[in-house]
Amino acid sequence: MSPVNTRPKSGGFVPRDRDWQPDALTPWYKTSVKRSPQAALLSFPTTLSEETSPVFGHGLLGKLDNDLILNYAKPGESAIGPRIIVHGRVLDEMGRGVPGALLEFWQANAGGRYRHKKESYQAALDPNFGGCGRTITAEDGSYEFRTIQPGPYPWPNGMNDWRPAHIHFSVFGHGFAQRLITQMYFEGDPHIPLCPIVGVLKSQEAIDALTAPLDLHHTVPMDSRAFKFDIVLRGQRQTYFENRKEGM
Ligand SMILES: [Fe+2]
Repeated sequence: MSPVNTRPKSGGFVPRDRDWQPDALTPWYKTSVKRSPQAALLSFPTTLSEETSPVFGHGLLGKLDNDLILNYAKPGESAIGPRIIVHGRVLDEMGRGVPGALLEFWQANAGGRYRHKKESYQAALDPNFGGCGRTITAEDGSYEFRTIQPGPYPWPNGMNDWRPAHIHFSVFGHGFAQRLITQMYFEGDPHIPLCPIVGVLKSQEAIDALTAPLDLHHTVPMDSRAFKFDIVLRGQRQTYFENRKEGM
């Protein structure tokens, strides 16, 4: 499904392509009207503590933090839905793995329903699924977690807009000022080209970078399929981030 990728794969300095990121104001995605800046941006200097702390360690994590199938389930039970493994690497602009990054993820259940008091979709809650988890990248920048594949859900934008199945990701570096947020989609989802949020991206290549392919090599037979999602923090191959367009 990928078009010809004209971006360099590795090596050498590559300047940022600022056209890669979508415009802040995209009226067909209604909330962008209020969220987009109405005046020139101001730059605030960061403080030392914002740049240097906290440093997340594995002591922070609970045993089931990276297992959404079990981390909210009653003993002996598990979340309902297609069981999947999501894995990949967090990479810098040169393709090097970034260790020690705190990854947090949240998602709807298999029916497309969030466990949230403002959720208005009629799909049922799964009593054994909370929808949140976290992990820390290894020395080579790799990560992995287990979950169920979320369902698509409707949202109040146009008359009949549906989000593709997706998982929200937050990436924390070593400082409070280093947080990036994005979404991962699933290969083959027919909702992807129809979604107004996906539609703010300027090229199929940018959409493909957020779309995790099925990874048969990482599946667990008779247990879980796997999807692979790499996150590139900056540079020309940077992942699209919602909260900080320029990346790290
Ligand atoms: Fe969502």
